[in-house]
Amino acid sequence: MKGNDIREAYLSFFENKGHLRLDSFSLIPKDDPSLLLIGAGMAPLKPYFTGKVEPPCHRITTSQKCIRTGDIENVGRTARHHTFFEMLGNFSFGDYFKKEAITWAWEFLTEVVKLDKERLYVTIYPDDQEAHDYWHKMIGLPENHIYPLADNFWAIGQGPCGPDSEIFYDQGEEFGTDPANQMGGDGDRFLEIWNLVFSQFDQQKDGSFIPLAKKNIDTGAGLERMAAVLQGKKNNFETDLFFPIMEEASRLSHVNYGTSASGDVALKVIADHSRAITNMISDGILPSNEGRGYVLRRVLRRAVRFGKLLGIQDPFLGQMIDTVVEMMKPAYPELIEKQAFIKKIAGVEEARFQSTLNAGTDLLSELMEDAKKKHQTMLAGSSVFKLYDTYGFPWELTEEIAQEQGLTIDKEGFAASMEEQRERARNARAKVAMKVATPDTTKLNVSELTVEDKDGETEIVLLGKDGKEIASAADGEEVTVILRNNPFHAEGGGQVGDTGRLIGQSGVITVENCRKLPDGIAYLVGNVSEGVVEAGSTVRAEVDRERRHALARNHTGTHLLQAALKRVLGNTVNQAGSLVLPDRLRFDFTWPEAISSRQLEEVERLVNDEILTG
Ligand code: SER
Repeated sequence: MKGNDIREAYLSFFENKGHLRLDSFSLIPKDDPSLLLIGAGMAPLKPYFTGKVEPPCHRITTSQKCIRTGDIENVGRTARHHTFFEMLGNFSFGDYFKKEAITWAWEFLTEVVKLDKERLYVTIYPDDQEAHDYWHKMIGLPENHIYPLADNFWAIGQGPCGPDSEIFYDQGEEFGTDPANQMGGDGDRFLEIWNLVFSQFDQQKDGSFIPLAKKNIDTGAGLERMAAVLQGKKNNFETDLFFPIMEEASRLSHVNYGTSASGDVALKVIADHSRAITNMISDGILPSNEGRGYVLRRVLRRAVRFGKLLGIQDPFLGQMIDTVVEMMKPAYPELIEKQAFIKKIAGVEEARFQSTLNAGTDLLSELMEDAKKKHQTMLAGSSVFKLYDTYGFPWELTEEIAQEQGLTIDKEGFAASMEEQRERARNARAKVAMKVATPDTTKLNVSELTVEDKDGETEIVLLGKDGKEIASAADGEEVTVILRNNPFHAEGGGQVGDTGRLIGQSGVITVENCRKLPDGIAYLVGNVSEGVVEAGSTVRAEVDRERRHALARNHTGTHLLQAALKRVLGNTVNQAGSLVLPDRLRFDFTWPEAISSRQLEEVERLVNDEILTG
């Protein structure tokens, strides 16, 4: 069975059991700050499990795109570690429970995909007599195929969780007989293919468990493992879900699969990471130095490095993405329309890293040689930081390369260097935002520029950096922007300018200030915080409204203060200056003598009265 057929067989099997088939949710969690990325089929369904939201059906089935990067350095080195994978799942929200979950899992495995019953084993939570009895008495699984295992309890951090029962496939003695190969161990002989979670608790932020009002079922079966078992392959990469990508990488590198251990690792890394890159960008994740964007950057740069190790000189991710799209489009047709965009974003990131990869690799080799000569086992944090900052090496990549040479890295030192740099950047940005040079604006058609105070789509008519007009800027770059319609208030009269965001399809600019040129044209000062932004592109301009309101309140405050001072001290009070910030205001005036505390109290009372009655 091909991977695409297994997915279809699973989803239609559960549709026939009354489940609603939903498309995979995005890899970006929605309204769930506890998760960076979706890493399990149940993750996007959390509100249905907890009962916060009523599901469209009490039985749902999905094949969910997932990203897990906790073990990224193992990817390529084992038979089944992945960053991107699909999790087949059937879910019950207060509907069926253990009995049906076990019955249907068995039916699917033995009757639909026809696995040999003799090779199936299960683990159960030690106290779960009920699960034991269903497996033993109802299904007829012999006792010696049922193993109690204390860590059979599945949780996702905050959210629904419960005891589980895992189903294993015995790949045979040729995969080893040592104890590590027993269920729950690290060996390859017993391959976990399905996890049935009897979801009965809701884990709180503080780690405590609250019983859920209704019992649920959450199951997860890795499509890639299922494919390996059904296609009789020793490892997931040899299934049709990965192999064509490895073949494409072989074609480009002239390194064939199965000829060297290091070549195989590189081909597998590229195959795995190409799937992750394609799907992450397709779901709207853009390279950056923060959060999800950083995960994408790490995965992408790791792929580029392994491409280099294979001897691929030219950019190659585009070809990899084409192959992934071709393979996955039956299940994810949206990839076709996003293909050009995914290639563009990946291409820019690949080019950025390739330009420094050689120099960074040379430097890292020198550092490692040097450390070894000095009998040191750890690379200094400042060196790891230099590789990160100057050569674009995610620290995890440096760590992995160092580990290959038996070295570790000083993570604390790295974090300290990073913090120092952040501080420097913050100070530099504040200065830049104060006196930034804009490019020549004389070519602009001023009559086409508007200043409607409304968030929404508009065009970047001019993008500048260091006083020069530029065509595009990538994350980390400081830019100036002139918009066709500008909803941002410029600084002036002591009031600081608006902040906010410009959100484009391929990148985001964080706006830190808005200023005015002598001819009245407003320009924004900011930095690209994600992806790439191009001149001429359409962006959604969003003013930080809460901050704006705070500024407006403090602006009004200066007027109230001035009026109260005039009433208490007399009309000759003259404003000498003022500063309006979101969290405070300052009002300067000249007065020939000290002001008494009685007068100050009176001013304060007048201002407060005005605010309370106004
Ligand atoms: N949530 C469980 C897992 O991820 C089963 O879907 O293994």
